[in-house]
Amino acid sequence: MTRLLGIETSCDETAAAIVSDGARIESNVIASQTDLHARYGGVMPEQASRAHLRAIQPVVEQALTDARVDWSDIDAIAVTHGPGLAGALLVGVNVAKGIAFALSKPLLGINHLEGHVYANWLTPGEPRFPLVALIVSGGHSDLVLADGHGAYQRLGRTRDDAAGEAFDKVARLLGLGFPGGPLIEREAANGDPARFALPRAWLDGESFDFSFSGLKTAVRNQVAALGVDPDTASPKERRERLPVADLAASFQQAVVDVLSAKIVRAAETYGAINVALAGGVAANRTLLRTVEDRAQRPILCPPPRLCTDNAAMIAAAAYFRYTAGQRNDLSLDVEPGLPIA
Ligand code: KG4
Ligand code: ZN
Repeated sequence: MTRLLGIETSCDETAAAIVSDGARIESNVIASQTDLHARYGGVMPEQASRAHLRAIQPVVEQALTDARVDWSDIDAIAVTHGPGLAGALLVGVNVAKGIAFALSKPLLGINHLEGHVYANWLTPGEPRFPLVALIVSGGHSDLVLADGHGAYQRLGRTRDDAAGEAFDKVARLLGLGFPGGPLIEREAANGDPARFALPRAWLDGESFDFSFSGLKTAVRNQVAALGVDPDTASPKERRERLPVADLAASFQQAVVDVLSAKIVRAAETYGAINVALAGGVAANRTLLRTVEDRAQRPILCPPPRLCTDNAAMIAAAAYFRYTAGQRNDLSLDVEPGLPIA
């Protein structure tokens, strides 16, 4: 059995997990900074680094305690080294290096986006290649073809806002809190998705790229047309005076239409056996249900708590790299702009 410790600090969750053989979660500890950043309506990078510093040691210790294992039971240390916030990544990478050095254990640097895809290995049934994955989070919207472990080709990406970023910005326009995705989803459940005709950015016919900033602007214009100042209105005023549920449902439907159409077309074009959803926005059940309806093949999607940032997914991705022989030395550095392919 191979038992890996995963560490994740790329954004606003301090996380550590122990996973055996890339599939079985022995522990999965997440210290969220959501409350800290909610005050500002978004992630504040310096505050995130400081919060990671405070949380990292107890979180790692908790991961060992929950798994009932000792340091000597760990085969290697895997850590997210990009993409993400530089100062946040630095905390995890340096802690991982320190542990690897002190214990003379192998160190592996893992791509955060690859980690999101490998959350799908933590659920029953092993994913099969070729696989088309949609990685939709607060910082990314990537459509990826995977022909095997570590063999990726990026088919499309966002040209402006990430899907999760659009959810967060629209939530703010509607006077909802942060992070916006789950709040929009909750409001949308009681709304009419056809009430407001919002634009879908298909881009040029063959493109697998995305664009969400026009949609965000359309919601903003709709808010103004409904008589609420999109710049100055208080959150309370927005919630009271806007048809929040219908706006949320119409916005969510526009995002889901584009994401689901492009992932289904990519799966057909590349003959994918599996379609996998990944990243925080994959926690959206309307997205999952729509892709399930439209794609005629098995859809993989982790449970919501494994869609958003966690370290189990990092340890899962690391397992395949560990068995393939990847080892990083202490010169491993953060790569804030690291792409998946
Ligand atoms: O993957 P993640 O936890 O962090 C990043 O790597 O960015 O994704 C966070 C993003 C946020 O923008 C959040 O609003 C969005 O995922 N999100 C959702 C839902 N849950 C989280 N978006 C739509 N529907 C959800 N249920
Ligand atoms: Zn993420």
